[in-house]
Amino acid sequence: MNTISDIKITQSLTSKINEVDFENLTFGSIFTDHMLICDFKNGAWQQPEIKPYEPFLIDPSAKVFHYGQAIFEGMKAYKDAANDVWLFRPDQNFERFNKSATRLAMPEVPEFVFIDGLKTLINLDKAWVKHENGSSLYIRPFMIATGSGVIAQPSTQYRFMIILSPAKSYYSGEVKVIIAEHYSRAANGGIGAAKAAGNYSAQFYPTKLANDEGFQQIIWTDDATHTKLEEAGTMNVFFRINDTLLTAPTSERILDGVTRKSVIDLAKRENIEVEVRSVLVEELVHAAKEGSLKEIFGAGTAAVINPIAGFSYQGTYYELPKLETSFAQDIKTKLTAIQTKDAEDTFGWTVKV
Ligand code: COI
Repeated sequence: MNTISDIKITQSLTSKINEVDFENLTFGSIFTDHMLICDFKNGAWQQPEIKPYEPFLIDPSAKVFHYGQAIFEGMKAYKDAANDVWLFRPDQNFERFNKSATRLAMPEVPEFVFIDGLKTLINLDKAWVKHENGSSLYIRPFMIATGSGVIAQPSTQYRFMIILSPAKSYYSGEVKVIIAEHYSRAANGGIGAAKAAGNYSAQFYPTKLANDEGFQQIIWTDDATHTKLEEAGTMNVFFRINDTLLTAPTSERILDGVTRKSVIDLAKRENIEVEVRSVLVEELVHAAKEGSLKEIFGAGTAAVINPIAGFSYQGTYYELPKLETSFAQDIKTKLTAIQTKDAEDTFGWTVKV
């Protein structure tokens, strides 16, 4: 079973597309007409199926609810001026998904199900991908443990799914961050490098505390000493000190972001000096005080490149300068032009659907 004709397709008789205001989309709240489902049972992946988007039944004792065996990916598709649809580095997401699966003792998903299934699904819902500036189709592949029974063991049954959501921007407006001094996102030997659902739920409470103080996100620091800057949870982070771009190396605690590595490659191509190394909180505070800290920005699939307006540390807020020309804006423009095929993709990152 590994050709497109092996995917069972049941088309929706109606479409919701005319009910959608594509100009005013709240991130991740509207889904297209179809979804992909593929179940794993008796030690094997079953026939993938594309069917109308709808809720499904699941046993209350399913292990996903009790032990959190759940992983996901975030990807995007873009429509070019000629109406063709393109994926951005899907091989990277596929690879990372299976790494996450292994870390959570879940079965790896076959490439045919993930990549060919995704392309077939997008082709059915192609009208949902818009070419207008800033538009994309956000793709959410995920896998949950569906096997029943509350014994604390890995499930023997899983469901892999892909759902699609038309998207504009993730954050509306400027993002202010607080630097973590007590809570941690991940620890060595843990699941920080996996795109596991639990990594996100663990952030909700400290992020809520930050929200209450007027900050949108937290920049996480290493769990052992809280002295090294790591990532922002929904994004990897970059710091510009003078004209050098700094970002933390990936580790067991940091997600190996596809946008992160694309930003590094793009910046190098633009002859921007990039240093992938531990960045200390005290280095950032010092740079902010002396005026050499020019920019901080987040990089992620959903958020793309998101400038950070300022950060708070130990109760002091450091406002970043407003720049006429920023690395964040320049890299964002160049990256999105590659993704939407408005610029030549010299890296070979885009894949036609
Ligand atoms: C993404 O950028 O795709 C992510 O997975 C982050 C998510 C929290 C929206």
